Amino acid sequence: MTKPRGPSNHVVSGMRPTGGVHLGNYHGALKNWIELQYEYKCFYFIADWHALTTHYEGTKEIESHVWQMIIDWLAAGLNPASATIFIQSKVPEHAELHVLLSMVTPLSWLERVPTYKDQQEKLKERDLATYGFLGYPLLQAADILIYRPAYVPVGEDQVAHVEMTREIARRFNYLFGRETDFEAKSEKAITKLGASKGKAYRKLRRKYQEQGEVEALEKGRALIEGNPNLTVADYDRLLGYLEGSGRTILPEPDVLLTPTPKVPGLDGQKMSKSYGNTIGLREDPDSISKKVRTMQTDPARVRRTDPGDPEKCPVWDLHQLYSDQDTLKWVQSGCRSAGIGCIDCKSRMLDAMLAELDPIRTRGEQLEQNLDYVNRVITEGNEAARDEARDTLEEVRAAIGINY
Ligand code: TRP
Ligand code: SF4
Repeated sequence: MTKPRGPSNHVVSGMRPTGGVHLGNYHGALKNWIELQYEYKCFYFIADWHALTTHYEGTKEIESHVWQMIIDWLAAGLNPASATIFIQSKVPEHAELHVLLSMVTPLSWLERVPTYKDQQEKLKERDLATYGFLGYPLLQAADILIYRPAYVPVGEDQVAHVEMTREIARRFNYLFGRETDFEAKSEKAITKLGASKGKAYRKLRRKYQEQGEVEALEKGRALIEGNPNLTVADYDRLLGYLEGSGRTILPEPDVLLTPTPKVPGLDGQKMSKSYGNTIGLREDPDSISKKVRTMQTDPARVRRTDPGDPEKCPVWDLHQLYSDQDTLKWVQSGCRSAGIGCIDCKSRMLDAMLAELDPIRTRGEQLEQNLDYVNRVITEGNEAARDEARDTLEEVRAAIGINY
């Protein structure tokens, strides 16, 4: 159980199964996930319990949305050989950690999370005065902390949730990381570093605690990270001993803010399922062409001869996602001089968009024909995630004192 743990290279993120992935989700999250999978040990999951917090009245569609989204992920290039892909509700350990964290979470922390009141306002037609909805960010904290990740890649809208996750971790470590013999155990762990590293550790610890030198803290962390002589528990002790806190059981993860390009919907507003202005990742090309043809442009271009301003046109935002430099120049000068028409302009963008989507759609069709494979990927992902989650829970239970 006590395998040595270096600097965590884990990354965790989830997506609610809201139906098919659209280009907004793709450019705002999924594409980034795909890049990260080759750099970190990634845990990506379908947050089906989170979908229930707002959609508990219409659960019939959840199952098809879950599978649709998994196929979208795989078709887009998430690779189950690199990343662990799973379904939240298939890893019930998330729920156990949620319940344990709920014991030490002040209600006021949940009430002051900005999305709580915002969403209640926005989704007025739903009754969100439920316990599950209030607990949404705490469930998210459990989702994250159970994999002890270094990073959580999310967009701006989720930063407050990760911030709260950090506060929960800090509080948990504060409450349960204070073993009675913490100091003695830490001193013993120092001896495992060997004489010279042990001496260096003590020196750095003093420098940080007495002079507040952040650099010393960082050096100290680097010194113990990945040391094969340390058990997980000793590593966590030495981390806490260095920082002057207790033992770190749940490390605080950092946000990895996803650079979110502007992805406008058909009406020029942000692309979002709730505005009904989306283009699906695996949508039929004819349907996409039709949507783009009728898409909003710069309202000043009423006639073909009227010059336009790309900055006022959502088609331009899409060009920036899909077109090469030459095309971008062609749009800028052609639009401003009325040298090109909107139909030509859209059709060039559309060609590039469809060229990217075409292989994704094809892979999606193959996966639809091979649901056994998809099922296997998820079953294996669920198990791999559970293995990690169980390890963390065991330490959590031990720290609380309920590992009988
Ligand atoms: N709340 C996230 C969203 O709406 C989804 C989510 C659930 C999540 N659990 C998570 C994201 C854990 C990152 C990490 O997008
Ligand atoms: Fe938009 Fe292109 Fe038409 Fe200009 S020419 S308004 S950028 S669609």
